[in-house]
Amino acid sequence: MSEFNKLVFSGVQPTGNLHLGNYLGAIRKFVALQEGNDCIYCVVDLHAITAQLVHEDLRGQIRSIAAAFIASGIDPEKHIVFNQSAVPQHAELAWVFNCVARIGWMNRMTQFKDKAGKDRENASLGLLAYPSLMAADILIYRGTHVPVGDDQKQHLELARDIAMKFNLDYQDNIRTSGLGTDIVVGEEPVHAFFPMVEPLIDGPAPRVMSLRDGTKKMSKSDPSDLSRINLMDDEDAISKKIRKAKTDPDGLPSETEGLKGRPEADNLVGIYAALADKSKTEVLAEFGGQQFSVFKPALVDLAVNVLSPITGEMRRLMEDTSHIDAILKKGGERARVRAEKTMNEVRDIIGFLR
Ligand code: TYM
Repeated sequence: MSEFNKLVFSGVQPTGNLHLGNYLGAIRKFVALQEGNDCIYCVVDLHAITAQLVHEDLRGQIRSIAAAFIASGIDPEKHIVFNQSAVPQHAELAWVFNCVARIGWMNRMTQFKDKAGKDRENASLGLLAYPSLMAADILIYRGTHVPVGDDQKQHLELARDIAMKFNLDYQDNIRTSGLGTDIVVGEEPVHAFFPMVEPLIDGPAPRVMSLRDGTKKMSKSDPSDLSRINLMDDEDAISKKIRKAKTDPDGLPSETEGLKGRPEADNLVGIYAALADKSKTEVLAEFGGQQFSVFKPALVDLAVNVLSPITGEMRRLMEDTSHIDAILKKGGERARVRAEKTMNEVRDIIGFLR
């Protein structure tokens, strides 16, 4: 049980086009969590250079993620929206975490293994240390709840390990500084400076799969554009991609049990449920027994209804970048005040002179 104030933090990388997986796995949840919570949503541009150093139009990419946040319904006045590089304390805390985390922990990260591929020796040191920066992103605000897609689960477990090791390594200093809080982790009482972050992964579409292959994650890097619905796709593109989505010859089952072993059907039902704010059970109660020739057009209508207003608003926001830039600048200033407070406390706990 955490005694920390509830704070929601999450981030999206400005690399490539946003797609339905990013929207349903993350951004839609960001929007819902605004009610009754203090939220910080970040365009994580420092992460963008870990796998690829030089980006075409990085500024444009950063703005388009911010535009997607705003167009989806995030309120940058009530909450904070900013880009990571505007708050240098993220990188500063990441350095401390690089000294807390162990190389073995980083080597075990499946995303590092996937992204580095066979040529690990030639991957950037930043790619290896990526989860340490991600932990710093959250913990520089002592964030407690992190809405993400399923693919980020392992990184968040690592963030907990880093927080725990920092808390234990500096236990005495945290006590004498008077900056900690008593929490219980498992059965263990710990005097903690950093909270144990809780991933918020639930929902009907925690892992949106490729429309061409239900066993592969929908991703920005898939060479086939037919595999994903981009947030900037127009109605025709959405309709074409859903009509062409791979399915099996059977109709839809009446219960979720019947989706087992049918990854494509499961994926489309999950997408429908997430877009409609329903459970898969509710969707199957409506469409059970129907063929895809009935379900797909209904999914097209729903996807177009939900996504078109967002796409339209994103386009409008991108026409006048000064508005987005002003939001990010103000968000960065507000974030920096909070981040510097935590960083000063970390400096005191570690014993740096300031
Ligand atoms: P990124 O930019 O790859 O993705 C942004 C968010 O979208 C989710 N997502 C998906 N969800 C469901 N189905 C999919 N196919 C799918 N593809 C992507 C991701 O899980 C993510 O929530 N490391 C993070 C960014 C990050 C971060 C953080 C997140 C950096 N610091 C701190 C949370 C807290 C990433 O690369 O996400």
